[in-house]
Amino acid sequence: MVAGMSVPIAADTAGRQTAFVGPIILLGAPGAGKGTQAQLIAERYGIPQISTGDILRSNVSRGTELGKKAKAVMDRGELVSDELVCGMVADRLQQPDCARGFILDGFPRTAAQANWLDEFLAARTFGGRHLPPVVISIEVGYNQLLQRLTGRRSCPSDGQIYNIYSHPPKKEGICDLCGSQLIQRPDDKEEVIAKRLEKYQAETLPLVDYYRNQGRLQKLNGELPVEQVTAATFAALVRPEAEK
Ligand code: AP5
Repeated sequence: MVAGMSVPIAADTAGRQTAFVGPIILLGAPGAGKGTQAQLIAERYGIPQISTGDILRSNVSRGTELGKKAKAVMDRGELVSDELVCGMVADRLQQPDCARGFILDGFPRTAAQANWLDEFLAARTFGGRHLPPVVISIEVGYNQLLQRLTGRRSCPSDGQIYNIYSHPPKKEGICDLCGSQLIQRPDDKEEVIAKRLEKYQAETLPLVDYYRNQGRLQKLNGELPVEQVTAATFAALVRPEAEK
């Protein structure tokens, strides 16, 4: 239970597909494994993964106004404006599938986004109750991040994530689940990766302190194998005492 809450959060029981899980925030550098873990949490608890990167990429590929504004910024490895991203997240969080909870993957990413989210959540209830966010920071060193990002391949159809070094598909270049041709993200080129990591250090890393100061932060060692990170993530959801 989260301190001060009387609702079981993500109870590890048969009821987890119907429980009010509340907001979950995954913090971590590019390549830390936020998307990988978010997919597994979403499956286990039946709540949506809200990846701002995925929503932006979908807008880019559909050629929407938002996508046109975001594309060049993303291709350079910089951050899309707070105004655009917060508006996009606000729209997404109004959808009925967010009623029991949601996983924020890649948001918030700046102090302004974190402040906006605090205000948004203050006015939001889950099953009639306010639930504070569970904030998990997935920590991975620089060299490991580089290898993960350059080795990442994803499925454009179902979003499955692979890695040519650590988690290759059964057949090279093909999604195990749907048979689509896997792709490499345009921002996973080395020069863009360097810019993304720089932006992370400058803009997003300070949020670790922001949430630590709120008593909500839980840090995980993201260098462990995926299954071990997942086990630690699930444990953080049922026992979310904040790191002191
Ligand atoms: P976004 O799509 O959010 O990218 P990111 O934060 O850079 O994160 P990644 O998706 O690269 O990494 P991840 O942590 O999800 O790792 P993954 O699980 O895939 O953002 C892209 C761009 O959109 C930004 O640069 C920005 O321009 C814009 N944007 C997005 N949100 C924004 C916002 N809020 N504000 C402003 N702009 C925004 O794993 C990586 C690889 O590692 C995979 O191959 C995986 O198989 C492997 N792996 C994962 N876990 C492990 C493990 N434990 N061991 C070994 N390998 C592992």
